[in-house]
Parts: sequence; structure tokens; C-alpha cells
Amino acid sequence: MRRIRGGGARSRSDGARIVDGPGRPEKDLFIYQVYDIRTDIRPTVAEIDLSALRRNADAVRAALRDPGVGMLAVLKADAYGHGAVACARALERKVWGFAVSLVEEGVELRRGGIEAPIVVLGCFYGLSHRDVVAYRLTPVVADAQDLGRLQRAAQELGGARVGIHLKLDTGMSRLGVRPERLDDFIAALREHPGVELTGLCTHLSDADGASAELTEEQLTRLRQCQDRLAALGIRPGVTHVANTAAAVRYPRARFDLVRPGIGIFGVAPDYTELSPLWPVMALRTRIIALREVPKGTGVSYGSSMRTCAPMRVATLPLGYADGYTRRMSGRAQVLCGGRRCAVLGPITMDMTMIDVTAVPTAALGDEVVVLGSQRPPGGEPETITLSELAQWAGTIPWEICCTISKRVPRVYVGEVRP
Ligand SMILES: Cc1ncc(COP(=O)(O)O)c(C=O)c1O
Repeated sequence: MRRIRGGGARSRSDGARIVDGPGRPEKDLFIYQVYDIRTDIRPTVAEIDLSALRRNADAVRAALRDPGVGMLAVLKADAYGHGAVACARALERKVWGFAVSLVEEGVELRRGGIEAPIVVLGCFYGLSHRDVVAYRLTPVVADAQDLGRLQRAAQELGGARVGIHLKLDTGMSRLGVRPERLDDFIAALREHPGVELTGLCTHLSDADGASAELTEEQLTRLRQCQDRLAALGIRPGVTHVANTAAAVRYPRARFDLVRPGIGIFGVAPDYTELSPLWPVMALRTRIIALREVPKGTGVSYGSSMRTCAPMRVATLPLGYADGYTRRMSGRAQVLCGGRRCAVLGPITMDMTMIDVTAVPTAALGDEVVVLGSQRPPGGEPETITLSELAQWAGTIPWEICCTISKRVPRVYVGEVRP
């Protein structure tokens, strides 16, 4: 809502409501013009379909074929760019809990009213041990130094024991206690009676790879660690290992909980039979400028793009600052009038030009779909997927949805609760 000087309550011809403060001297009057500043000025939105999200969670669950396995839905990086609180609310009754990467991501979910268990996968806690305890987060721990800090935080905040999940490095060499150091970690744990081992986890490096070899090796190492813990008289509560690909492809990797991320956002990883899945994010914008240019006209920065024939060039208010990465320049397509149109020249920070010559009806204000579906008049819908964007950008679908920037408003559609 924007405040502008003036007087008199009235409606504008464009429908915006104008209200002033009653009984105030003319010079103090303000007009409140009611509009959604996020979308009415710049018509670029990421539409998030919460019903699709929920159906995808059902699809992952169905693929497990085992009602005894719980789901720890991975909502790190703002739910892969989809908006963590809204996604958590939509999924809360379907899952055992949520996994995030950072303490602040867990705090955001708690402040958003989420009551389910929240597991912090990231393993780095800096000075945040009190927040971990205060917000009832479950820290994944790989460094024995965190044990004392967590125990102290729990004592300072009322004395309850703090539950942790132990992370093992079974082959990814990213985070976790190496199997040969497991005994040392358990010895340190025994010195901290205020800390309770409530879970055990590891991460698989190649669950969506062609070969099962690395995954099988990692699972074998994990089993050996479980046996060692049993020999030491330790029962670690829940065990969770499997991302989307492993949850679907490797029954041996399921244990008590699985940790799917990308599957619930509508993408099946390579070699992973998971269907039906529904796209959750769509990126929509509108034409803000349109021009007819003769053959040989330059489009965008530099001289890399010159029209090879007379062309209708439309400008979209979306660029690499929105996460529409410049790496897609020269390859990407969008949908206008239900037809695929090429992106012309380098994508700029705030704008992208497209060729709408083949869509003679294209007009200022027309919707353009950058990610998602659009139906041509009387025809079947055409779709651009996250995987396709990733291919044009030379990356993976995970990176595309995570990097749609904060300045693109997320607009939620679909039911939230069952
Ligand atoms: C530790 C951990 N577990 C689970 C996941 C979810 O993986 P996916 O999105 O492939 O299902 C990730 C994703 O990066 C992760 O880092």
C-alpha cells in the first residue's frame, strides 16, 4: 500500500480504492492507494501450487510401498525456492517432520507455527546453540565440540536433555564423523549426559547415478556403523539416509525415515521411476514492451544477436537478477499464446527479449510463461519444465528453483490443508 498526499475518499476509474484519514485538516490528508506492490507494478510472479506439492508427497510415499517409513521432507533453501513456511503448512499432516540446512531456516519454520520435528542438516552452529534448544530444533552433529555447547544451552534454558542426530561420512567426504572415528565420538557423547542420541544419518553421493556401486558401498559402511553402535550398547533412535532417488530406487536405504526434496517439488531425478508428479512452481510474466524491427537489428547487449529477418520483439520484466540465469541466453524458450518463442540475445539483469513474430496476436500485457504450462487457443497445453530450464542453463533442476530470487513474489494457489 502506498501513501500519497491529497484528500477525499473515492474510487479510481482503474478500481484502486482511495481512502483518506477522516476529519483531518486538508494539509494533513493522505490518500491510501490500495494495490499489491509486489505484482501490480511488475507482473512477474512465481506461482506455487500447494495441491501439486501435496500430491507429489503422496506419490513419493506410494513409491515407498511401506507405510512404516516416515518422511522427513527437505525444505532447506526456502523449500528449494518455493517458500518454506507455506510448503511446511501444506505438508505438515503428511510427514513425520522437516529437514532444513541452517538454524535460521528452522527458526523461520517455528516462527511460522510449524510444530513437527525440524532436523537441521547443516551441522554448523556457530554461536546458535541456544537458538537450537529454544526453538526445539534437532541438530545433526558431526563435531564433538558441539556436544558441550548444546548441553550448556539446554541447562541454561531449563535443563531438559537435547536430542541430536549423528551424521556419518560414509563416502561423500562432505560432512560427518568418519567410521574410524565413531568410537571417539561415542566416548565424547558419554561425557555429556545432557545430550541424547535420537537419530543417525548419512548422505548418499550417487543415488541418482547409473550405477548402484557407490550407494551400496555407503549403505554397507552405514550398516557396519550401526553394528558398532549396537556393540557399544547405543540405540540411536531413527535412522535416515535416502534422498528422493534413494528412497525410490533402493529399498535398503529407507530405514525409519526418508529425506525427499526434489521429488516433492515435482522433479524425478535421473534413473528414478516416480510418477505421476506435478510441477509445483510456475514462473509467469507479461509483455511490457513490443516493437517491430527490420532485418539486421541488434537485440540486447553487445553484437551477438542481430535479427535475420523482420521481427516482432517483446520485452519481459524478468532477468538474471530474478534467477533467470544469463547462462540460458541464446538457448531458452518461453511460452506466449501457447507457442514456444525464442529468447533473443543476452538475458539482461531485469529484462529479457523474446521473438513473438510467430504469435501475431501477441499484445502488450499478454501473459508469458517462463516455467510451466500455457494453452494455445483451442490446442493442447505446451509446458516448459525445470529440467528443460536446467538443460538450457547447463545445470540441474535443483539449482534453477533454488535461485529464483527473492524479488520474485511467490503467489500460492491450491488447497493448503487436507
Ligand atoms: C543431506 C540431504 N538430504 C536430502 C536431500 C534431498 O535430496 P533430493 O532433493 O535429491 O531429494 C538433500 C538435498 O540436497 C541433502 O543435502
